[in-house]
Amino acid sequence: MKILSIETSCDETAMALVEASGGIKDPRFKVLKNVVSSQVALHAPFGGVVPNIAKREHLKNLPVILNELEILDPLSSAPNAIGRRAAPGPLSKIDAIAVTVGPGLEPALWTGIGFAKEIHQKYFPKAKLIGTNHMEGHLYSFLLPQKTGEPKLKTKSQKLFPAVGLVVSGGHTILLLLKSLTEWKKLGETRDDAVGEAFDKVARMLGLPYPGGPEIQKAAAQGNPEAINFPRPMIHDASPAGEYDFSFSGLKTSVLYYLRDHKRANVADVAASFQKAAIDTLVYKTAKAAKQYKAKSIILAGGVAANASLRETLAAKSAELGVNFFAPSMEFNTDNAAMIAAAAYIQILKKKSRRISAQANLSL
Ligand code: KG4
Ligand code: ZN
Repeated sequence: MKILSIETSCDETAMALVEASGGIKDPRFKVLKNVVSSQVALHAPFGGVVPNIAKREHLKNLPVILNELEILDPLSSAPNAIGRRAAPGPLSKIDAIAVTVGPGLEPALWTGIGFAKEIHQKYFPKAKLIGTNHMEGHLYSFLLPQKTGEPKLKTKSQKLFPAVGLVVSGGHTILLLLKSLTEWKKLGETRDDAVGEAFDKVARMLGLPYPGGPEIQKAAAQGNPEAINFPRPMIHDASPAGEYDFSFSGLKTSVLYYLRDHKRANVADVAASFQKAAIDTLVYKTAKAAKQYKAKSIILAGGVAANASLRETLAAKSAELGVNFFAPSMEFNTDNAAMIAAAAYIQILKKKSRRISAQANLSL
């Protein structure tokens, strides 16, 4: 089945063309096209994503990216194409159109949904139109093909379930216990800031540009992670209710106080020590859950999964526990549309439908 997928939940306009096959125990994906147009530079001066700028940019980018996928007759987009109707081109056999319906910024979600409905009606009326959950996309991104040199996923030969899933992005920090690809229980989540948000805020305190995650990683590489002993939030919180919950605002505040009290702080040391504290907490809770629930694998997902130190630490911990470790290929950690196609395919296999309207607070 060929899936055209659209993602506009935040500040990346993304579209992909993915060929999906296999059953629910062994879904396989071939990514034919994967285009991500980042608006980061436009939002950077504001220190975060401005919803109305995101909306405007998505509206501008969507038709351009559709053109890049080369599924419509290229003549229809040529400069002299006025009055000429775009028509499906040679690659145009599309079985499903998938679009993110949430969670995300509502005005940003509208643009992708409206565009999906439009092209569905106009060019691919026989295709299924599937509304997908952005977080499910992240969760399933480890199923997308890995690039050479990265660990190869063999779902058939490598034991997966039960699995502990750590989904870490700019808006979410969630720990899951998965019985299968489609059955899970939320073990815990953040009580305040998401971990990606903490990276972004600490970067801002250090005068590093937005988005802060990659900048912190870069600065941290030059620093000493043991230089400052920032708190490991909630590692010792033994209360059963919050056993697997996270909290990152305290850590963020300690960085703030440290910088207030040390006017000549070494940026690299602060970044390295903050990064280590955040990762220690994530890895500690994930490992604890993996042990308690006798997990066969640990799955890492979401934008923060791009963090090299988190990947390495969690991979090493998994090896120590004797469980398999899965993380997305580097190009599929941060927002993209290939993961939305993966989520849509699994939804189709499960015959699950979802309302096709913006749901800003949709959860896992
Ligand atoms: O999944 P994503 O692209 O968007 C959301 O759904 O939120 O995640 C973006 C988040 C941002 O907070 C960004 O700073 C963080 O992922 N991030 C990183 C790294 N790359 C992106 N955090 C730490 N280290 C990185 N290398
Ligand atoms: Zn995301």
